[in-house]
Amino acid sequence: MGWIINTLTSSIGKKLVMSLTGLFLCTFLLVHLYGNSNLFGEPAAAKLSFDGFSKFMSTFPPLRVLELGLFLGFVLHITQGVMLYFQNKSARPIGYAKMPGNETSPLLSRTMIWTGSFVFFFLVVHVKQFFVDIRLTQGHEASMYDGVKAAFENPTYSALYLVALLFLALHLNHGFQSAFQTLGLNSKKYTPIIKALGLLYSILIPLGFALMPIYFLLKKCNCI
Ligand code: HEM
Repeated sequence: MGWIINTLTSSIGKKLVMSLTGLFLCTFLLVHLYGNSNLFGEPAAAKLSFDGFSKFMSTFPPLRVLELGLFLGFVLHITQGVMLYFQNKSARPIGYAKMPGNETSPLLSRTMIWTGSFVFFFLVVHVKQFFVDIRLTQGHEASMYDGVKAAFENPTYSALYLVALLFLALHLNHGFQSAFQTLGLNSKKYTPIIKALGLLYSILIPLGFALMPIYFLLKKCNCI
């Protein structure tokens, strides 16, 4: 047991936790985006399928356990990230993983704490808006579709959402490939593939989420 604690609290252990929780959160984003794709289409049908998906996700018992894992993943990722930041600041920096030949890497790697902090700030607003105010306060019968629609029809909320996605894109642009490097999965053969996948992931995922506020705002002004 002691060696596990020693490993996890060492610099390398913390980096390992960051990479595993980071990749776990990347998988969560994919599932989340897939669920949110139910929002598009003819409103009555979209409401039915999105509310059905949302109710299933929040009531199916095995998913409740996964949700706990997700919460733990976020807590570990954030606390270890902050600890690494201060540790690197006060002592010899362990050096954030850099991909050779990636000119933007130093800037994006040095700002992981700030891009992550903005994502965290947004997460608090997001969880309050949908989980606390709708799911917890109004229960499972409340329409999540109506809640999401109302939120995205508000230009201020949508603007904040889009800015948060920009920060998420920057975080993922460096984070995705760095996680693989931390795990030692970089080599002459695989590094270019991982870099390309990271770039694609950091663009497509935030873009997919960005389509939602844009869609509801355009619908509200009868532009589509
Ligand atoms: C959905 C949200 C998030 C995803 C998908 C994500 C993903 C990642 C990934 C893949 C890495 C690279 C890990 C490695 O190099 O091994 C990373 C690093 C990092 N993340 Fe996140 N992250 C998220 C949210 C956050 C939040 C909310 C914070 C809050 C502060 C944060 C702070 C950090 C920091 C500081 C690092 C760099 C740690 C170091 O110096 O090695 N992240 N993230």
